[in-house]
Amino acid sequence: MITKRMEKALNGQINKEFYSAYLYLAMSAYCNKLGMPGAEHWFRMQYDEEVIHMTKMFDYVMQHGGSAHLMQIEEPPKEFGTLLEVFEESLRHEQFVTKSINELLDVAVEEKDHASQVFLQWYITEQVEEESNVIEIVDRLKLAGDNGGALMMIDDKLAARLPPAPATA
Ligand code: FEO
Repeated sequence: MITKRMEKALNGQINKEFYSAYLYLAMSAYCNKLGMPGAEHWFRMQYDEEVIHMTKMFDYVMQHGGSAHLMQIEEPPKEFGTLLEVFEESLRHEQFVTKSINELLDVAVEEKDHASQVFLQWYITEQVEEESNVIEIVDRLKLAGDNGGALMMIDDKLAARLPPAPATA
């Protein structure tokens, strides 16, 4: 059984995961406008990944005697600048989510909620991977600069991203 404080904190994170999904769907649409089908696909896969993050937490709250509260989702931006700027914004967002997950784990420790501490470890590991994936893309885009051929090669590589594996409980 999760405490009311833990329930509130997890519900706040569910909203942030929903916003992440929304943000990446907006980035996918923006990359379509930029004429970058690989990046459009990459962000669509990222959207799918965020939906998994959200539903996994939503299910956890209910399985542990809590109530899942769905709140209003903030509207994401429509414009993101260059392809490099899109991924830089994605990195800033992931760093924000990492901080939020760390704070959530702090709450679980303070509440002596061992089950939530174990559950949140999955998100801690996931955030390391998410940040590192985006850092690699940002570095490549910085190297490519305005070189159209190099940007097309990066876009082709982004097109190869596989769908996320379904989350296990
Ligand atoms: Fe759910 Fe990208 O953090």
